[in-house]
Amino acid sequence: MGLAEQLEKAEGRQGDNFARYAALVQRRRIPSLTVYQVTLVVTWLVMLINNPTQVGWFLLHPTLESLAMLFFTYAGILTLQPTSQPRTKAAGLSRHQSAILFMAFPALLIGVCAIVMNKIELGKSHFRSWHSVLGIIATGWIVIQILIGGGSIWFGGKAFGGGMKAKSVWKYHRLSGYILFPLLLITVDLGGALSHWGEKNVPLPIRLVAYVFAPLVCLVAILSRMR
Ligand code: HEM
Repeated sequence: MGLAEQLEKAEGRQGDNFARYAALVQRRRIPSLTVYQVTLVVTWLVMLINNPTQVGWFLLHPTLESLAMLFFTYAGILTLQPTSQPRTKAAGLSRHQSAILFMAFPALLIGVCAIVMNKIELGKSHFRSWHSVLGIIATGWIVIQILIGGGSIWFGGKAFGGGMKAKSVWKYHRLSGYILFPLLLITVDLGGALSHWGEKNVPLPIRLVAYVFAPLVCLVAILSRMR
């Protein structure tokens, strides 16, 4: 057994692998369709087969939001679960930061700006559904989440007094992340399963699988790998 495998073994727990496969994206080098990808694929297909060139800014909303959620789930969270060895911890943290800062957050933010632009263009009022209210709350929460997480490690955690003081803030960032993630999944549920768009374009059984069942399994998988 190689060193990498030994380390992985030492950090693992029974059930982790199942949870990993349920929540994740690839098994070794063979890409496989797994749970959250169902949401992504359904969303992209529905957008692409329903006059994508006619829907203006809206095209960027479900597509980029479902992509952002995939980045959050796989590269943002799974990559840190579980890491206990200093070397894997540092590598996990670096992947976590890059995934969130350069992929998940930009995709989510562009997606939100796109739907706001879409509503402005159509002269519709804003934040009238539970989906949109939770969505805008989650977006603000993510900004705070990034500032707290980043503040606790960037420049030696100077923003929070440095050293151990700053390090102790990390646990709040982590706890907040585990509350924020279900909030994001509920937002996706409502946007896909209960919106006018979902009802009009996605047949009920597919809606249930893509926007209720898949996010739920994904949540259970993520929580079951939590330490
Ligand atoms: C696949 C996932 C998603 C789908 C299918 C989707 C779909 C929709 C639809 C159809 C609308 C227009 C109806 C309404 O206002 O409720 C909307 C609006 C909105 N969505 Fe999403 N959404 C998704 C994910 C997200 C996520 C993850 C967020 C943010 C975290 C988000 C934030 C918003 C906001 C803020 C609005 C309202 C904008 C406004 O009123 O100006 N959505 N979404």
